[in-house]
Amino acid sequence: MLKVNFYDKDIMDKALKFAVIAAKHNRQWVLCKHRERDTYEVPGGHWENGETIDETAKRELFEETGAVAFTLKPIAVYGVERDGSETCGKLFFADVTKFSELPKSEIEKIEFFDSPPDNWTYPLIQPLLLKKLESEFEVNGELKEYIEKNIIPRYKSFDKAHDISHVNTVIKNSMEYAEQYYVDFDMAYTVAAYHDAAMNEGRKEHHINSARFLREDESLRKWFTAEQILKMSEAIEDHRASSANPPRGIYGAIVSEADRDVDAETIVYRVMEYSKVCFSEIPDFEGHYKRTKEHIEEKYGENGYIKLWLNSERNTNGLKKLREWLKDDKALREECEKYW
Ligand SMILES: [Fe+2]
Ligand SMILES: [Fe+2]
Repeated sequence: MLKVNFYDKDIMDKALKFAVIAAKHNRQWVLCKHRERDTYEVPGGHWENGETIDETAKRELFEETGAVAFTLKPIAVYGVERDGSETCGKLFFADVTKFSELPKSEIEKIEFFDSPPDNWTYPLIQPLLLKKLESEFEVNGELKEYIEKNIIPRYKSFDKAHDISHVNTVIKNSMEYAEQYYVDFDMAYTVAAYHDAAMNEGRKEHHINSARFLREDESLRKWFTAEQILKMSEAIEDHRASSANPPRGIYGAIVSEADRDVDAETIVYRVMEYSKVCFSEIPDFEGHYKRTKEHIEEKYGENGYIKLWLNSERNTNGLKKLREWLKDDKALREECEKYW
């Protein structure tokens, strides 16, 4: 009888006998085909004397796939239990950007898969490892429930530009970038959910206050270490659109990019609406149009203050469209007329 058990990833290296690396390249799984078998396997192998388990993972990934440039992330420790005795190893995730020639070994070739094949060398183990990995790319259910119940509803009382639909968009965009950059899903989600959470204390310092609000939320300690909480709070402090300095870390870059959400139509709509509500002394369309154009120029124009830190396709395209409109008075005017 064979059984696979998962453990916390911080178990001491000494207890570990092997490393297995679930690897992706251009978002496809990288699997190995053995010379003498028609089945596939996840790259990995035995620990050798003197190595740390991370070194084992790097060496095995190179030997079995030829990967030379990659990021490596520990996922879990797992044990394979056979006849009452258990051997433990570490599961890693690698995002490979470059391969050299495949070194000579028992591996005949590597192949790329959108979804994993059925013919595994170890069908009782390997599919479980990939499943475990996929669950890493989901937000912890308990954390999500806590945030949906206690944090998201705060946005109900905020202005239109920072309401529930705004925070949901920032969460959705953040999760897309988290997947793209292989970062911790729970952290990216939490940063997005808290990023404007203290807007009720005023807009000017909302990034500082929202960061403090996150740090002071004792409940989060259940899911995050002190270091993670600090990193998330820095990300929130760094998210302001008018900030000229780049964020200190990837979570700040992700939430900033997600927060910008440069959709040309939505921006024109929002600026026009804002103008109508907050500048009601302006008597006519011409006046509101002028104000809208000035604001868009100041923020999104060629010399505008908005900065994109990840240059996502969505935001780059949105910015391009706004700049085209700024140069084409007729087009921008028509767009603004829709909201008059
Ligand atoms: Fe904000
Ligand atoms: Fe925001």
